[in-house]
Amino acid sequence: MALPVILDVDTGVDDACALILATLHPDLDLRAVTCVGGNAPLPDVVRNTLTVLEACGASAVPVGAGASHPLLERPVDARHVHGDDGMADLGWPAPRGAVDPRHAVDLLRETIDVAAAEGTPVTLVPLAPMTNIALLARMYPESFARIGRIVFMGGGAMVSNATASAEFNVFHDPEATAIVLDASVDHDVSVTMYGLDVFYGPQITLADADELAALDDRGPGALGAGLMRFMSKRLTSDSATIGDAGAVALLIDPGAVRTERLPVRVELSGTWTRGRTIVDTRDWSGDMKHDPHGLAHAQHVEVALEIDGPRVARLWVDTIKGAH
Ligand code: BDR
Ligand code: CA
Repeated sequence: MALPVILDVDTGVDDACALILATLHPDLDLRAVTCVGGNAPLPDVVRNTLTVLEACGASAVPVGAGASHPLLERPVDARHVHGDDGMADLGWPAPRGAVDPRHAVDLLRETIDVAAAEGTPVTLVPLAPMTNIALLARMYPESFARIGRIVFMGGGAMVSNATASAEFNVFHDPEATAIVLDASVDHDVSVTMYGLDVFYGPQITLADADELAALDDRGPGALGAGLMRFMSKRLTSDSATIGDAGAVALLIDPGAVRTERLPVRVELSGTWTRGRTIVDTRDWSGDMKHDPHGLAHAQHVEVALEIDGPRVARLWVDTIKGAH
């Protein structure tokens, strides 16, 4: 039976790659997509998301619009990375589909509750600042508790991007990430962190993109090729990462990623470190016992530390080819 999943996105070139994989792979049952401001302002994120679903023949999947602003911070976008429209400036026609009338938090709640009542709790995959998920935890804690598992893209044990210390999704809304990690402890929801330590592993080459481009004109082949060509050009490289899509791939092929269960905290203050995920990799409990910060209330997260990048990249390409 296909795994019921919800993606929370800020589409986003690599969020689009994740949506392509989640819609096309037969092992996954994409029940809903919720949008949040992040890589681009919320209206752009919603339009881009609808465009991707349409290209993948998945227009029936409900798309909810959520938070346009982080809980505390002012929004910052990443259009300098993802393009002026947030998704590679492909110039595709506007999508025909419409956004779901429910707010993203209500769409999350209802989709989670339905799956739980069916006996197949949903796997929630946040690939963006976790504002919507934090709001869910505060507004509907009983529904949050019904989530089967959270696999999120964010943070990093050793690698950062938005600042010298922090990864973009956590940096954008640090309080939201902290709320979600705490709520996961309170409600016993298991969490996997797919962070920057593995994010750049799965690379798609320009040769792969040429193969995908030949598959269709306005479908997942052309879209995947356009996204990867754009990002390769922007980075002056002959390949680009599928980024967020790796977190979705982990659900399909868990053996491609090595994780370790480690305490993770989010830095909420700090002059230069706000938004950093502090991953405690110390291996001698004697050190921890004498640590004034202690381990009390620290969330223990399955942290992705190594990835077989080529294997995950191949999964993505083969999934698109297999859909033709
Ligand atoms: C994360 O930030 C965004 O730019 C990407 O979509 C990804 O989710 C990487 O730091
Ligand atoms: Ca993202």
